[in-house]
Amino acid sequence: MTSSIVKFIYKNKIVEINNPDPNETILNYVRTKLKKTGTKEGCAEGGCGACTVVIGELKKNSINYKAINSCIAFVPSLEGKQLIIVEDLISKGEQHPVQKAMVNYHGSQCGFCTPGFVMSLFAMYKNYSSYKEEIIKDSIQGNLCRCTGYKPIIDAAKSLNKESKVDDFNRNKKITINLLNKIKHRNISIISGNKKYFAPKTVRELQNILKQNPNSKLISGGTDVSLIVTKERKDLNSLIYMNSISELNYIKKKNNFIEVGASTPLINFENFITKYFSDFSKIIKRYGSVQIRNICTIAGNIATASPIGDTLPLLLVLNSQIVIKDKNKTEILPLNGFFISYRKTKLKKGQFIHSIRIPFLKKDIFKAYKISKRIDDDISSVCASFCIEINNNKIKKIRIAYGGMSSIPKRAFKCEKILLNSFLSNQNIDKAKKLLEKDFKPITDARASNKYRMEVAKNLLEKFFLEIKQNKLIRLNA
Ligand SMILES: Cc1cc2nc3c(=O)[nH]c(=O)nc-3n(C[C@H](O)[C@H](O)[C@H](O)COP(=O)(O)OP(=O)(O)OC[C@H]3O[C@@H](n4cnc5c(N)ncnc54)[C@H](O)[C@@H]3O)c2cc1C
Ligand code: FES
Ligand code: FES
Repeated sequence: MTSSIVKFIYKNKIVEINNPDPNETILNYVRTKLKKTGTKEGCAEGGCGACTVVIGELKKNSINYKAINSCIAFVPSLEGKQLIIVEDLISKGEQHPVQKAMVNYHGSQCGFCTPGFVMSLFAMYKNYSSYKEEIIKDSIQGNLCRCTGYKPIIDAAKSLNKESKVDDFNRNKKITINLLNKIKHRNISIISGNKKYFAPKTVRELQNILKQNPNSKLISGGTDVSLIVTKERKDLNSLIYMNSISELNYIKKKNNFIEVGASTPLINFENFITKYFSDFSKIIKRYGSVQIRNICTIAGNIATASPIGDTLPLLLVLNSQIVIKDKNKTEILPLNGFFISYRKTKLKKGQFIHSIRIPFLKKDIFKAYKISKRIDDDISSVCASFCIEINNNKIKKIRIAYGGMSSIPKRAFKCEKILLNSFLSNQNIDKAKKLLEKDFKPITDARASNKYRMEVAKNLLEKFFLEIKQNKLIRLNA
């Protein structure tokens, strides 16, 4: 059974929208339909956090609160969830503890960014029991303030450690959970003017829909796709939403590899992978913001095939594979070779990424580095990743990959070749650095010049070997 009615919880009531415009952003809906203008629009591309709202999702018999950028999330993605906006935090005329803290610590001047900060801090307040500096900084990574400065905001967040954890959302939790249970597990199919939108619940349904609508655009977190609407001002006439498929939201440890389902939010993977490849997790911590990582996926990062996709050089050196499906077939392809040219991959019409497999590499050392203009919420100028096995000072295996150095994320095969079976010496490292010039011809753009990129790529290679020599190694654990 499919439904054209999107249902979600707002202020502890079920809201129903019949055939909503699949390209309408939640931000636009909140400001123009709900007529609540606390939520602001700054950049319309997920970069400033002014539009942050919180989504409540059922997790077992509890609610998981996620801050998201409402400017790049479409209304139908609210299906089955709870929407919380800044106006909802006031209870019986009283400010929420997060709002009070912002006032008491002077966390606001012009106030434009404030609703976004409040919502990011609200999600933190709900999801953690205490708020260390690291958690606070992580939580507001995706919120920009141009006048207050961050210290008063961080101090406001720290003061929450002393506040009661009981708010109206706790008091109403049972009611909200009952309502969320009432509206779960529905398969959505929308027709609105000339636009179509499908949100299948299972892989089988996805396969049928994709077979019948091969020209549809798949959308997972939508953190790339939605910008076609919000920045390029184009329509997306047929969308198939992947993140409604809970069957694909998983991380499994198999004998020889880790398997990540295509609709798994990156934030879940970030927490999981620390134990196995700690540098992977470090790179993800600097990937967009919590708002972005709450919804975006590795599958989306792979399929969009950006030369500066941050997971890609890491997945390349880890010898990852992608499980690809269509209606009838399953293919397992190595990631190496999957990227054909700028933003072009081997993925064919009617196919989708089902999962990603990352092998355990018992003896290898894995490292990764991201260079960007800012630490948080910035796109890489260069991202480098290395996997090496050394025996008696001799390099037995080596894989090196870079993002930002070519039109696709790519292995440095010439550099690898000269290092393989050679001794770890300064002379060999210098030769390898020189060979990066044969592997890559980087471009100059707004982020970095070609010269800077090449210099950084060489330096990162050297840094990697220096760290190995100094024994600051990260070993892989199976
Ligand atoms: C503010 C901001 C900051 C960002 N920061 C970073 C960053 O630091 N590093 C970085 O690498 N990227 C960054 N990005 C880019 C983006 O978030 C990533 O590329 C993300 O991984 C895309 O995942 P998604 O699930 O949102 O993909 P979507 O936007 O849903 O989809 C992206 C592409 O993949 C296709 N697709 C999605 N799922 C599948 C599937 N299962 N099978 C086949 N095709 C599929 C879609 O059709 C589309 O072409 C940022 C984006 C924003 C807006
Ligand atoms: S308006 Fe800037 S992140 Fe949404
Ligand atoms: S208070 Fe003005 S931008 Fe933050």
